[in-house]
Amino acid sequence: MARNTQTFVCQNCGTTYGRWQGKCDGCGEWNTITEETAGVASAGPGKAPRKGRAFALEPLSGNTQEAPRLACGIAEFDRVTGGGFVRGSVLLVGGDPGIGKSTLLIQTAAMLARAGERVVYISGEEAVAQVRLRADRLGLAQTPVELAAETSVEDIIATLSTGKTPRLVVIDSIQTMWTDTVDSAPGTVTQVRSAAQVLIRFAKRSGACIILVGHVTKDGQIAGPRVVEHMVDAVLSFEGEGAQHFRVLRAVKNRFGPTDEIGVFEMTGGGLAEVANPSQFFLSERDRGTPGTAVFAGIEGTRPLLVEMQALVAPTSLGTPRRAVVGWDPSRLSMVLAVLEAHCGVRLGGHDVYLNVAGGLRIVEPAADLAAAAALVSSLTGASLPADAVYFGEVSLSGIVRPVAQTAARLKEAQKLGFGRAVIPEGAQADSENTGLAVASVSTLQGLVADIAASAPSQAERSPDVPTQNQGIGRAGRSVTRMR
Ligand code: TYD
Ligand code: MG
Repeated sequence: MARNTQTFVCQNCGTTYGRWQGKCDGCGEWNTITEETAGVASAGPGKAPRKGRAFALEPLSGNTQEAPRLACGIAEFDRVTGGGFVRGSVLLVGGDPGIGKSTLLIQTAAMLARAGERVVYISGEEAVAQVRLRADRLGLAQTPVELAAETSVEDIIATLSTGKTPRLVVIDSIQTMWTDTVDSAPGTVTQVRSAAQVLIRFAKRSGACIILVGHVTKDGQIAGPRVVEHMVDAVLSFEGEGAQHFRVLRAVKNRFGPTDEIGVFEMTGGGLAEVANPSQFFLSERDRGTPGTAVFAGIEGTRPLLVEMQALVAPTSLGTPRRAVVGWDPSRLSMVLAVLEAHCGVRLGGHDVYLNVAGGLRIVEPAADLAAAAALVSSLTGASLPADAVYFGEVSLSGIVRPVAQTAARLKEAQKLGFGRAVIPEGAQADSENTGLAVASVSTLQGLVADIAASAPSQAERSPDVPTQNQGIGRAGRSVTRMR
């Protein structure tokens, strides 16, 4: 007799267990494990396996056509996909709720439909009227996009199989889809995985390109099974700060293109607008020329990311000065402060120190040491750092600035975002060639401190009511920075 085995699956990472438990050992999340029926494929002991069908094998050297691409006409999107949507490919677009995934995809769908392609938009979250309302607002209501509010994958496939094969199908959100072949509720790992499988099979068979929208958990992972990420051809993530208007689309995985390109958009009243010159856009959000800010060229996972580090160093009125940090490791801040005091002659004992990573990001990389130190010294001395410079490098306890991984990727991102120079560890020079940036290498933290202190306004130039702070710097080290 066939037995329906119950398994317990973590809805966050997909780890399976034989019995329920509160915490997932796989990802460490609490209360994410739910009971699921393990599929239908559990053949009973008496059931003979299906007899296989022989298929033709092909030589490796066959004549394969170049994967035909379809550019959607939104340049920032095409840049990220590597030049357009490949026939028969499946893309997963992830992002926080409300970030603009549906907006981006309805705009993309409308662009292609206008160009004469058959485009189908299936919404599992919104009613047809709501999608129409959005399209109306975006001025796209007259485009021939075919629309439906459906959640049954079998019905969707049946519909898509009739008539001309659509060139692009948008499934707004894979988490709302369900298939008859499994009993689990929609949104569970098993359902999402099976529904994705059915859709992927359809894409490969028909040549239609399918874009799946995926929700993201609070720590930025595509919610539900990571396995969907392995099944699809490309995973794009749509990111941005809720309060700010810029949005960044980046490829986390791409079988048909690079993963280090980003697409930058601005959310406007009329939908998403491409930002052709991101540097201008990003720089306009910054307090340029203000002492105490440094741009850090970081890597988030495999993705380069530029963030602004803001420091405020102010004389304290307390017995024990305050050290407050948002978005960075407090013990790393203590370490950088200790190195500044011990090796660079920067006296901070009488100062409160605040450090903030702009935009609410959290940085864990040691490579942020140099940017943090630059922001701190800049705030202390009142010398603003060059607005077009990025900083990265790990600071050792002896004050040596050590190279970090992926120098080239950081510099490429900085260049893409319009920065003109970079202050990097001396040892990292080898792979910094051909980036178009003016690269200044620094071997010790003393060198950086001396350079910043040298550009500080002298006491005479400052207005009398600005209290001078550069008495904080005592013996400054010899400058070892040189421009190439
Ligand atoms: P939406 O595409 O629905 O987000 P997602 O599908 O990722 O959940 O975008 C919703 C947000 O975008 C909403 O907060 C309003 C904003 N928005 C604009 O600012 N301008 C616009 O033209 C549109 C359509 C949305
Ligand atoms: Mg949506």
